[in-house]
Amino acid sequence: MKIATILGTRPEIIKMAPIIDEISKRGIDQIILHTGQHYDEEMSDNFFRDLEIPAPDYNIHVGSGTHGRQTGLMMQGIEEILLDEKPDIVLVQGDTNAVLAGAIVASKLHIAIGHVEAGLRSFDMTMPEEVNRRVADVCSAMYFVPTEESAINLLAEGFSRKNLIITGNTVVDACFRHLEIAKKKGFEEESLAELDIDNMDNILTLTMHRAENVDDKQRVTNIIGALKELSDMNIIFPIHPRTKNTLQNFGLFDELNDLEHVHIIKPLGYLDFLQLTSASTLILTDSGGLQEEAITLDVPALTLRYNTERPETVTAGGNILVGSDKNAILENAFKILNDNEFADKMRNAPNPYGMGDSAKLTVDAIEDYYAKGLLDISAPEDIMGSFTRKMAMVTEDITVNEFEDSKNALIHLVFDGDKMRFPNDDLNIKGMCVSYDERE
Ligand code: UD1
Ligand code: UDP
Repeated sequence: MKIATILGTRPEIIKMAPIIDEISKRGIDQIILHTGQHYDEEMSDNFFRDLEIPAPDYNIHVGSGTHGRQTGLMMQGIEEILLDEKPDIVLVQGDTNAVLAGAIVASKLHIAIGHVEAGLRSFDMTMPEEVNRRVADVCSAMYFVPTEESAINLLAEGFSRKNLIITGNTVVDACFRHLEIAKKKGFEEESLAELDIDNMDNILTLTMHRAENVDDKQRVTNIIGALKELSDMNIIFPIHPRTKNTLQNFGLFDELNDLEHVHIIKPLGYLDFLQLTSASTLILTDSGGLQEEAITLDVPALTLRYNTERPETVTAGGNILVGSDKNAILENAFKILNDNEFADKMRNAPNPYGMGDSAKLTVDAIEDYYAKGLLDISAPEDIMGSFTRKMAMVTEDITVNEFEDSKNALIHLVFDGDKMRFPNDDLNIKGMCVSYDERE
């Protein structure tokens, strides 16, 4: 079996690293294809080093650009490589342009796609990421969904449960695996070492790069307004290159940099960043991955967004959405700082993203699909049979599996009162309403 992994940005490298590592350990043939969307050393190469994964076999070097240009160049480059390498499965992760390009190209070449971190939905189609993740899900053959909630998103859109594998999120694997290594190693980045983080109180780690925030002067101004008033905190801001550019263009960079309690530093390597976040009292971010890492590391998060495709973090109590609303940022930050009970509750929020074994579960499932021939995508040879969509109120003690066997059916949705449930094979569906396809 040959597995091709497509990645191109910082979070994809971090979240694919545990899977790449697991594939290597099992001696499976693999290629790594970098789109080159992130190219600065501190946005790309440093993560291959810190996470100890092999350098990419290919780099398409698409660089920065508009969405259409970037995606088009990626598609062209990915197609050439896949035609040559003929992998059995292509893995894409998350919601970047690499995911969009990789999924479209591989599906047209009839190569199975495994979407890692499938099923997330912000329901906000103005976000490029929402478009990317939805398109990737349409094209995929295997869905590695982090939680039951994300699985239910896919079921509600009509996807079959057969190809949904609930794995947790590989970011937990990456955090658990590297935090101890990081702590032993100490800080690599000089600016961080100089700040003497170990003896610093009230650290607030800030990251922001989301287009809807940093490309909007009013929103950035509101956020900076809040930062100014958080002078009881030591704000450490490893700045994303996109944000540095826009703050400079808006003439806001110096104003922020001049604040005594704000330390703008360059983007950190993964080991440095883990030490910083785990030592923080509070994380203020618009990052997707950081919302997950915050709850994994038991650090309260305030998310600078109006919606999130990670609602589990909010429901669990570890994350609060504050938008770019100065008052909401300040009110919640002061509460975390001054109200121990409130802060403890956030810190103790249960982690919805698994135990750190996501990479293992992902590669187990890929090997299983390969062994069963389920990665072969070929045109159907049997004439289509008919099937009917039905609903039933289940009155007997019966599991999902037993119901499907008895009716030659596939269950899609399960309603338990007014709640949707994920149809695990062994879920007893007595008293629940199910929708299913009956095959004839
Ligand atoms: C991309 C992803 C976003 C992800 C983020 C992770 C898409 C649509 N966006 O956003 O989902 O959350 O990566 O960080 O795929 N730049 C550099 N050096 C680099 C990379 C970028 O200077 O190595 C600057 C360039 O000015 C570029 C800008 O950052 O125009 C934005 O980069 P881009 O890759 O387009 O999007 P991100 O904001 O990084
Ligand atoms: N990260 C890092 N150094 C930094 C900032 C972030 O290593 O200076 C890591 C962080 O731990 C997380 C990932 O980058 O795993 C998140 O990337 P980003 O916020 O760029 O993208 P998103 O997750 O929003 O797509």
